[in-house]
Order: sequence, then structure tokens, then C-alpha cells
Amino acid sequence: MADFPDNGRKMTKDNGIPMATRRTSVHGEWSSRFAFILAATGSAVGLGNIWRFPYLTGENGGGAFVLVYMLCVLGIGVPIMMAEIMLGRRGRQSPINTMRTLAQEEGRSPSWQYLGWMGMTAGFLILSFYSVVAGWTLAYVFRTASGVFTGATADGVQSIFSSLIADPERLLAWHTFFMVMTTMVVSRGVKSGLEQAVRFLMPALFLLLLLMVGYAMNTGAYDQAIDYLFKPDFSKVTGQVVLSAMGQAFFSLSLGMGAIMIYGSYLSHTASITRMTFIIALMDTSVALLAGLAIFPLVFAYGLQPQGGPGLIFMTLPIAFGQMPGGAVFGSAFFLLLVFAAWTSSISLMEPIVTWLVENKRMTRVKASTLAGGAIWLFGIGSLLSFNLWSEYKLFNKTFFDLTDYVTSNVMLPLGGLLIAVFAVWRMSAESSRSELGLSDGFGYRVWRFLVRYLAPVAIILVLIQVTGILAWVTGRS
Ligand code: PFF
Repeated sequence: MADFPDNGRKMTKDNGIPMATRRTSVHGEWSSRFAFILAATGSAVGLGNIWRFPYLTGENGGGAFVLVYMLCVLGIGVPIMMAEIMLGRRGRQSPINTMRTLAQEEGRSPSWQYLGWMGMTAGFLILSFYSVVAGWTLAYVFRTASGVFTGATADGVQSIFSSLIADPERLLAWHTFFMVMTTMVVSRGVKSGLEQAVRFLMPALFLLLLLMVGYAMNTGAYDQAIDYLFKPDFSKVTGQVVLSAMGQAFFSLSLGMGAIMIYGSYLSHTASITRMTFIIALMDTSVALLAGLAIFPLVFAYGLQPQGGPGLIFMTLPIAFGQMPGGAVFGSAFFLLLVFAAWTSSISLMEPIVTWLVENKRMTRVKASTLAGGAIWLFGIGSLLSFNLWSEYKLFNKTFFDLTDYVTSNVMLPLGGLLIAVFAVWRMSAESSRSELGLSDGFGYRVWRFLVRYLAPVAIILVLIQVTGILAWVTGRS
């Protein structure tokens, strides 16, 4: 990224977009469109795909969840991602300042900036538990390399995981290590290092996942896994399943909290938002499905419970690593890549907070990242204790970890997405959105507008108020 020494409001040459709405980011711009795709994919692909997607699929009964998830990605996620990138590129500041500026420009209430505040809070909360799980992954890099899984039984692998999460000191060490790593990168700016890392990371991760799927095909339970993942049993669709699937679509695509908005703010004006969005969504969904195809054959072949919860991948993949030749090296390489994937996502979770502190509190990047990183680290301790000392403390039957995850993914991100959609099409003029998206008033733009104007908001509202619960109430009364 190149740095621009202006105040973020420098006007550029007109390319069909009114001069007054063109600004550049004080934080710089991606070196190319490809760099944006890499960074946004780096944000999207992470623990959400490889850790969260499989375990939620298992908890929510398989195929029906996968189907609803994919429908949410296509019908809600893709159009909202376009809207979020579009707003970011037009505002070119931290999400809070972007929303304030755009609302002012469109003659709307300054309260729209609270969308940015909610996003920043969601990023803070997500990163606090994300870092704990990234810590487990880090621990597994070393554990797998040490060869403890060689020839281990399913029971043995499970007890290794249980003993890790039962030890708060070890968890704290890994959580701390991961937060320091993230804070260091963010403090140096989202620069070419991130682009380089993702350029290597994504193909490597893809390749390793493909190999894992290849291995899983020979476990004897592959057909059963395919049926489980892709033959929806509609009797399993409840309001909770739909809510989890929608939350997962937002979580996995990094939507609704300003991460993609801030990355969009570094995007050049000539890039096609539509094409980029499709590429990112496709890559993200493929990684999640590959992870499912690698994990569920193992689950069935070794008689494990699909609803094994957040530890699912840590209790299944090591069995495979323990049995394949060279599994110790291969397995630790896999977990290492997963750490990097988590890292590139974490950077995007912290970026909106740091840019805001730099813009509004006039802090240096280093100071802002240290402050944000420290506070997130502290809050994360609540999540790591949820697996041991605080496991009995529950609110709404959820531990601190479960509750933070549930509220952010299932409520805050969809709500953020809803507000982004409402602003982009109900509060911003069609002319502004069309010119920023770089679309003519043709079929593509109309489809986008329809989805963001009606389908996405209605679907989100219905799911948020738990459509089936209400239906049950209504039908119960009639
Ligand atoms: N999309 C990331 C993942 O799937 O692991 C997590 C994430 C990153 C969620 C950034 C939200 C976000 F804003």
C-alpha cells in the first residue's frame, strides 16, 4: 500500500462519479486488485471455515444446515458483501467515520455511525474468543509434530484434547502468544506482508485440505459423510438451525462488522466489486465444504459424535494424522497453515478498531494496536476459563465462550448486515450506489438492489425474531 499524506478527503479525477464523493484513504491503498482479493479472502478464510463450520454442521444435524448455509451465502451474504465493500470504498475511513461521512453526504442522520460502533464491538468480542481457539491450533502444531498422535485411538486423541482445554495456564500461554503475533502485524500496517502471506497460504491450505479429503475417501465412511452433508433432512430445520446457518454465513464471510468495509476502503476505484465478491465467496465456501469432506468421514469411520462441539476438528483430524505415513510432519504443517489462516482473519477483526483509534484519538498505529490487543487479550481470558475453572458459570445455559460466540455471530453480525443493507439501498441514492459499484442500470444492478432492498433485510429480520418460534406460537393459537 502506498501512503497518502492527506486527511482522507483528497479528491481525485472524475471517472463518471461526482468529484465530491471521491476520497482517498489516509491509511493507503492496496497495491493491486489481486491484493484486495487476497486480503479479503485471508479475512474470510479462517477458523470459521475449518473449525466452526464442521462443528456447527454436526451440532445442527448435517445436510439441512449446509443447504441453508449455502442459500444464506448466496442470497444474503454475497449482496451484503457487495454493499459493505461499496460503502467502504466510498467512505475510505474507519467504519465509524465512513458511516458518519456517508450519512452526512446523503443528508441522513449522524446516528448511522453507531453501525460502525457496533461493528467495532463485535470485532473486539469475536477476536477475544477467536484467539483462544487459534491458541488451541498453535498448541496442536507442536503436539502433532511431537508424534503423540502416532497410532493413537479415538479415545486417546479425545483425552489429549480434553487435557489441553482443562489447563488454563497452557491455554493462557497460547492465547497470549497468538494475540502478540496479531498485534505485531496490525501495528505495522496492513501492508504487503499480508498480501505475500495469503498468496502462499491459500493455495497451500487448499492443497492440504484436498489431500485430507483424499485420505478421508479411503476411510470407508465417505459415502455416509456425503449423505450426511448433502442429503438434507428437512425435519431437522428449526429456527435455531436457520439462525446458526445465517450467523455462520456472516461469520465465515467476515460480514456485518466493518472488516470487509475497511478492506474495501483501501480498494482502488477501478476494481469491479461484483467480480471480487463472487471470487471471495466462492473460495470461502469451497474451503468450508472441503473441511467438511475431510472431517465427517473420520467422524463416522471412528464412531465419533458429529455433535462433538467446538473440539470436533481437534478430536478427528489427529486420528488421521496418527495413521498416515509422515502424519506428524503433514499434520503439524496443516495446523500451522490453520494458524496463519486464523491470523489473517484476526488482523481484519482488529483493523477497524485500530484505524478508528488512529483517526480519532490521534494515536500512532503501534500504540493503538497495543491498546486494542491488550484489551482483547484480557477479555479473552473469560473465554479460555469457560473450558475449565468457569465451566459451571452459565447464563442462558451458555458459558462465557458460548455466549460471546452466540451473541456476536447470531445477533450482532446479522444486525450489522441488516443495517448495511438498509443504508446502502434505503438511505443512499440509487445513483450513488450504482456509480460506486460501477454498474449500469441493467439486470445485474437490479438483482443486487432487489436482494439488498427486500430479500436480505426481510430474511434477516425473520430469522432474528426466530421465525419458527413465532409460527409455532401462531399455529398453536389457531
Ligand atoms: N471470517 C473469519 C473466519 O471464517 O474465520 C472470521 C471473521 C473475520 C469474522 C472477520 C468476522 C470478521 F469480521
